Amino acid sequence: MQQTRGRFSSRIGFVLAAAGSAVGLGNIWGFPTQAASNGGAAFLLVYLALAFCLAYPVLMTELVIGRYARGNPITALTAVSSNALSRALAPIIGGFGILVASLILSFYCIVGGWMMSHFLAELTCLLGFADTAAWLETFSISRSLFFTTVFMLLTIRIISQGVESGIERWSTRLMPLLLAMLVLLTLYVLTMDGAMEGLRVYLIPDFSRALSPSLIIKALGSAFFSLSLGVGTMLIYGSYIDDRESLPRLGTQVTIIDISIAVLAGFLILPAMYVALHNGVEIFAANGALISEDTLIFTVLPALFDKIGLAGGVVGTFFFLLMSIAALTSSISMLEVPVATAVEKSSMQRKLASYAVGGLILLISITIIMNFEQLFGATIAFTTRYSQPLLGMLICIYVAWVWHRGEVLQQLQKGSPDIETSAFWRIWPGYIKYVCPLVILIIFVQSF
Ligand code: PHE
Repeated sequence: MQQTRGRFSSRIGFVLAAAGSAVGLGNIWGFPTQAASNGGAAFLLVYLALAFCLAYPVLMTELVIGRYARGNPITALTAVSSNALSRALAPIIGGFGILVASLILSFYCIVGGWMMSHFLAELTCLLGFADTAAWLETFSISRSLFFTTVFMLLTIRIISQGVESGIERWSTRLMPLLLAMLVLLTLYVLTMDGAMEGLRVYLIPDFSRALSPSLIIKALGSAFFSLSLGVGTMLIYGSYIDDRESLPRLGTQVTIIDISIAVLAGFLILPAMYVALHNGVEIFAANGALISEDTLIFTVLPALFDKIGLAGGVVGTFFFLLMSIAALTSSISMLEVPVATAVEKSSMQRKLASYAVGGLILLISITIIMNFEQLFGATIAFTTRYSQPLLGMLICIYVAWVWHRGEVLQQLQKGSPDIETSAFWRIWPGYIKYVCPLVILIIFVQSF
């Protein structure tokens, strides 16, 4: 079986693919807008602390377990099970992770579709097709249905091509492009009038907001979402890593890229909002708070791009292209979870599995679009705020309490022969055994 499984062809291939999964709407949209409405730099500090102290150790558990088992989440949790109870629970927990990955993809495709339609709206507007641009820019069921389908088809197409010629090839093409666009856009926006006010909001902490339980669970969910944790994505990507690679090193690189891009995106989004304010676009709601997350990206920014004429059109086009790319490199990693499972559990061909599973998830997306008010927000909260941290905690428990410590060490020694004497091995095992599960549990319980 090992021969027929996909593999990343190089270290950089894995790093860009995993960073591609991690860097997505969560970084460029979710994090900056949450920081904006939750105490600016204080939220940033809470987020950084949670990302390094909780999300990174959990990421490591997924990579280790994935590379050891070389299989989907169900196979992997079963492979490390050492008693009847853990063996019985493994398919339930693994299966739940796969379900959550699919549900995340179902709403992610809707948002990815909006990003694409806004990209085309900016482009058609630049080219002078005002009517088309107006349709593309306006929220409607028909628009959502169309672009969600297009976005899903793109995702399916890449996944049907496999690990090396699909995931790795597209991630290594798209990620450098994404980074270049993000840096250029940020530099440009920072030169505009009003940008400094946004920087101030981003960088001056308001601690009275940042330490409330509801905010901490948001930041935790945000950090877990941002690193694609709990749902088997990183576990599956880990299963495609070569035995010669050092897992702690790869995990650190992915975490640093992910966090840096979130922080960098804050330097783009917050200043852009205040540039919009400076240009007469309303960014505060009636109650004096900042306009909420979705409205921000889809009304404030397009209004800003409109106001600043031709340059605005060009910036807007690149901005939404950036968002679409970020969404696509993440959506493929979500679809990979159920597709890899389907391929491994049945004798289905990858191509057929990609279209069948992708098609099913598209049906869920369509159901959400048709019952938007009831289902959209609820799906996001259920999957990202509650299920992801909970699943992350369970994976920690499997690695730290169920699996034999000697085998964990052996797996880590592949690619890092000296790990036993390193600081990582001195801290991490105890950390994922006691600290991570306990802290996640406390934050979780507090949020109710
Ligand atoms: N990490 C992605 C983002 O920040 C979202 C994601 C979640 C991807 C879960 C895969 C699995 O947008």
